[in-house]
Amino acid sequence: MNRKVVIITGASSGMGMEVAYCLIEKGCKVYACARRTERMQPIKERGGEVISLDVRDEASMVNCVNLVLEKEGRIDVLINNAGYGCGGAIEDVPMEEIHNQYEVNVFGLGRMIQLVLPSMRKQHAGRIVNVSSMGGRFTTPFIGWYHSTKYAVEAISDALRMEVKDYNIDVVLIEPGMIQTNWGVIASDNIKKYSGKTAYQKNADRVAKFYEKRYGSNGKLTEPKKLAEVISHAALTEKPKARYLTGKYAKLLTFFKTISPDNIYQTIVRKFMGMK
Ligand SMILES: NC(=O)c1ccc[n+]([C@@H]2O[C@H](COP(=O)([O-])OP(=O)(O)OC[C@H]3O[C@@H](n4cnc5c(N)ncnc54)[C@H](OP(=O)(O)O)[C@@H]3O)[C@@H](O)[C@H]2O)c1
Repeated sequence: MNRKVVIITGASSGMGMEVAYCLIEKGCKVYACARRTERMQPIKERGGEVISLDVRDEASMVNCVNLVLEKEGRIDVLINNAGYGCGGAIEDVPMEEIHNQYEVNVFGLGRMIQLVLPSMRKQHAGRIVNVSSMGGRFTTPFIGWYHSTKYAVEAISDALRMEVKDYNIDVVLIEPGMIQTNWGVIASDNIKKYSGKTAYQKNADRVAKFYEKRYGSNGKLTEPKKLAEVISHAALTEKPKARYLTGKYAKLLTFFKTISPDNIYQTIVRKFMGMK
């Protein structure tokens, strides 16, 4: 049996790195990609390949996909996992940072999809796994630009699934809840950086603290290993679901959003996050 050839973006830490470990263990040929390749020696030691990739850079993405195609002749699975949380009030985040957020979370993901699809269509098989977020299903304050990128990821994935069905290509969304990675630290640092000294300062500090408390060293969020198992399952199972909503608070908050009128949802979320 052929080993599945898998590309994973954002594999230098957190969920991406754990997915790389998990899929290597399951016998896949894993190409783990990120900018900080110096952190990825453990992936090499386990038998994975490491590629330097910046998903904001066209040449870097073209080079990555071509390299795998030249070596393997095919790509079975693309896992679009690279992403980060651009925190700060909608009014405060500089346009340059918003562009960067979209370059990484949306345009990079979309371009990687465009680059792998021709070979997947040709082989009449393939799978694209997009790591979205529970934050692609509902919105919370002070990471609004981030939410908007994950809503975009949901829309792109749902449209794509219908377009590529005839080519036997699956499109799967992963919608993690709060997972114990560096994500929350980056998001709260960004909230403080952009809104720590503005009109929004007081509530921004409260929301930054909300994230610091949960994602800090004493946090009790879902372990990235658990998500890696879900993502690996989504990548390899014969008939994947369209979306996997999983991890701390994911099902609870999405359900709450679905059943609540907007005013109730917003009042409770503001309270939950410590805003006054
Ligand atoms: N942790 C959570 O609670 C949570 C919840 C819902 C969704 N998510 C999503 O899950 C995904 C993985 O995040 P994580 O929680 O595992 O956080 P993480 O540990 O911070 O990992 C993020 C990964 O994205 C990569 N990345 C960032 N910018 C990049 C760029 N320009 N080009 C290529 N790679 C880039 C980073 O690699 P380099 O910096 O080395 O390039 C890193 O490997 C993200 O899409 C995130 O939005 C996370």
